[in-house]
Amino acid sequence: MRIKVFTLFPDMLRPMLGASILGRAISAGLIDVELIDIRAYSEDKHRNTDDYPFGGGAGMVMAAQPIVDAFAANLPAGYKGRRVYLSPRGRTLTQKVVEELAKEDELALLCGHYEGVDQRALDAVIDEELSIGDYVLTGGELGALVVIDAVARLVPGVLGSDESSEDESFTTGLLEYPQYTRPADFRGEPVPDVLLGGNHADIVAWRREQSLALTLQRRPELLESAPLTDADKELLSRLTRAREIEAGLGDLCLKRQDMQAVDLWPKQWLSAFVPEESRKAARKQCVSGRRHVGYLWQAFSMGFIPAFVEGEEAVQAWDEQLLESGFLYLPDERLLYRAGNLAPHALAGLGPFILADAALTRTLVHTGRPGKGPYFARNAAVDGEV
Ligand SMILES: C[S@@+](CC[C@H](N)C(=O)[O-])C[C@H]1O[C@@H](n2cnc3c(N)ncnc32)[C@H](O)[C@@H]1O
Repeated sequence: MRIKVFTLFPDMLRPMLGASILGRAISAGLIDVELIDIRAYSEDKHRNTDDYPFGGGAGMVMAAQPIVDAFAANLPAGYKGRRVYLSPRGRTLTQKVVEELAKEDELALLCGHYEGVDQRALDAVIDEELSIGDYVLTGGELGALVVIDAVARLVPGVLGSDESSEDESFTTGLLEYPQYTRPADFRGEPVPDVLLGGNHADIVAWRREQSLALTLQRRPELLESAPLTDADKELLSRLTRAREIEAGLGDLCLKRQDMQAVDLWPKQWLSAFVPEESRKAARKQCVSGRRHVGYLWQAFSMGFIPAFVEGEEAVQAWDEQLLESGFLYLPDERLLYRAGNLAPHALAGLGPFILADAALTRTLVHTGRPGKGPYFARNAAVDGEV
C-alpha cells in the first residue's frame, strides 16, 4: 500500500508515522507513506498557498494552484488510487469504508487547512471527501493519520498476526467484548472465571454474549446490519426485555445483580428450577461447563428451565434449598421472583440488587446499605420497608 499525503504541515504527521506499529510497518516496507509539502508547488513569489475567500467571510482558503500542481507532479498520468480530501463535509469514515480503502494499492490524501480548499482544486484532483466524524478540526492532517492508521491495520503483516484484527469492534459488526490481562485479581476485582478455565468453546460463547450485550447497550443501530445467528437473536430479545424492565423501574433500579452468587449452588438451582427429566443434560451442559458458561443463566437460555416457571412453586423449592439467599433475577420476561421472608441478616453482605416480576407489579429493591431495605415496590413505586 502506497499512500501520498498532500499537506501544508508535513511535520504534524512525522512523529506518528515514526512510532509504534505504524513506524514498524513503514520501516518494514509493508506500507509506504510519502509526505508532499504543498507549499513547495506554490507559484507565488512568497510561496503563499492561501487567500481571502471570494464573497467575503472569515478566514483564508487554500488556493487551487499549489494543490493541483502538487497532485500533477506526484501522481503519474492514469493514477489508479483513490484521491481523498479529508473534510467534515465528507462521507463518514467507518470500518466498512476503511476496508474499502484497504483494497486500493495506492491512496492520495489531501489535508485542508484554514477555512478549506478552493472548490476548483477539489473538482480537479479529488475523487471523494471523507470525514472522520461530525466535528471540525483545524486541519486534515489528523484525519489523514486516522485513515492511514486504520487502513494500515488491515494490510497483511502489519499486525502481529492476521487474526488480531478479526475480532475487533466493527469487524464482526458488533462492539468488542471486554478484554482482561494479568493479574487475575486486580485489587479485589477478579477476571471472569470463564477466561481462566481454558475451555475455548466457553470463552467464545461468553465473548459473543458480551459483544451482543455491549452493542445493544451502546450502539443498538449496529445490530440492524450485523450478521446474527438465531441464538444471538434470542439472547438479544431477552436482553432487550431486561432493559425495558430496568427502564420501567426507573430510579429503583440501583444495580443489576448478576447471577454469580446463585451459581455458587448448582445442585440447588438444578433441583429447584430444572425438571427432573432434563436435569442430567442441564448439569452436563451448564454445570460441568463443557460447552457453555453462565450456569443458571445458560440453563435458562438453553431452555432447560421450562417456558414459565410459576413463581410460587419454584420459589418454594428455592427457599427449601437456599434458606438464606433468596434472590434471583433473570433478564427475561419470565422473571422469577421471591419476595417473602427474606431474612435481612442474610442480605447484609450483599451489594445492591433488585428483583422484579415480569409484569413489574412487584419489585424488591435491596440497597446494600446496612440497616436500609429491602424495600418492596408495586408498579415501580416504593410502598414500604420490611
Ligand atoms: C477548519 S476546517 C474547515 C472546515 C470548513 N470550513 C467547513 O466548515 O466544512 C480545516 C480543514 O480541516 C480538515 N477537517 C476538519 N474537520 C474534519 C473532519 N471532521 N474530518 C476530516 N477532516 C476535517 C479539512 O481538511 C478542512 O479543510
